[in-house]
Amino acid sequence: MIISGKTSVFGVIGDPIAHTLSPLMHNRAIEVMGIDAVYVPFNVKPPFIEDAIKSIVSFGIKGLNVTVPYKTEVIKYLENSTKVAVAVGAVNTIINNNCILIGDNTDVYGFEMCLEKDGGLETFPERICILGAGGAARGVVYACLMREEVKEVTVINRTFSKAEKLADELSHVTGKTPVPMPADEETIKKIVPAAGLVVNTTSVGMHPDIEHSPVPDPNVFHENQVVCDIIYNPLETKFLRNAASQGAKTVGGLAMLAYQGARSLSLWTGMEAPADVMLDALKEKFGLKK
Ligand code: ATR
Repeated sequence: MIISGKTSVFGVIGDPIAHTLSPLMHNRAIEVMGIDAVYVPFNVKPPFIEDAIKSIVSFGIKGLNVTVPYKTEVIKYLENSTKVAVAVGAVNTIINNNCILIGDNTDVYGFEMCLEKDGGLETFPERICILGAGGAARGVVYACLMREEVKEVTVINRTFSKAEKLADELSHVTGKTPVPMPADEETIKKIVPAAGLVVNTTSVGMHPDIEHSPVPDPNVFHENQVVCDIIYNPLETKFLRNAASQGAKTVGGLAMLAYQGARSLSLWTGMEAPADVMLDALKEKFGLKK
């Protein structure tokens, strides 16, 4: 890669940022696309986030990804945000469109694409069960509610009041009301088997907590389900292992990461970004591919 005075700058802001995989997959894609650009990480500390957003225009940065803990906060510093970003209440992509900053959310697209490509779901099942009611759950629940074919979305969460709040907020923006439920054994036993798609958006099972699952009993899964975990470290969580052991089709979080990244890069460049190249870069990092 040769950086010159004409090189476009893209990047990611967050805190912490040291473990981000985005520079790896974006720079690989940039190389394959043959464009004069570079993607860099920026560790922005909380007192500086507003200044950092304003500096995007000052520095002529063409586009940024936004990660933890700023996805919600940045909306108020942007001139415009897309309908999906406003509905989900989170921006993961900022586009510098001739000095006008636009906030978008490509996590929703990433979720839909990984289910379509890896889960074989062109249409979603009628009944869906989402585990968790945090920031990551919002995009996933939104994507499900927006599908006409979906009849019922149940949101199961340890803290029931948060599931209720999420259901209430998203029903206002989508016109469909998710069903909030507490995360007890009885609920899981009743709701999970009835769902054609089950998605874990909680952090349970994430490295180093790899022996835990938000659904401890494997018997609630079956072969007529697609089961998705948005966690990508480890690549196969206990939740997915349990589901696979009962014949369910499983989808891990790595593909979602690649698809959301590809969508961001496409928005910044106006070119189709190679999602497969980005996914391969991530798989290599995890020792899955040479
Ligand atoms: P994110 O933005 O990644 O979704 P978050 O907003 O902190 O992060 O949400 C984390 C989710 O994981 C929440 O649904 C949380 O449940 P609570 O609302 O009850 O906190 C869930 N979660 C985290 N640790 C958990 C645990 N040990 N058991 C069950 N749920 C857990």
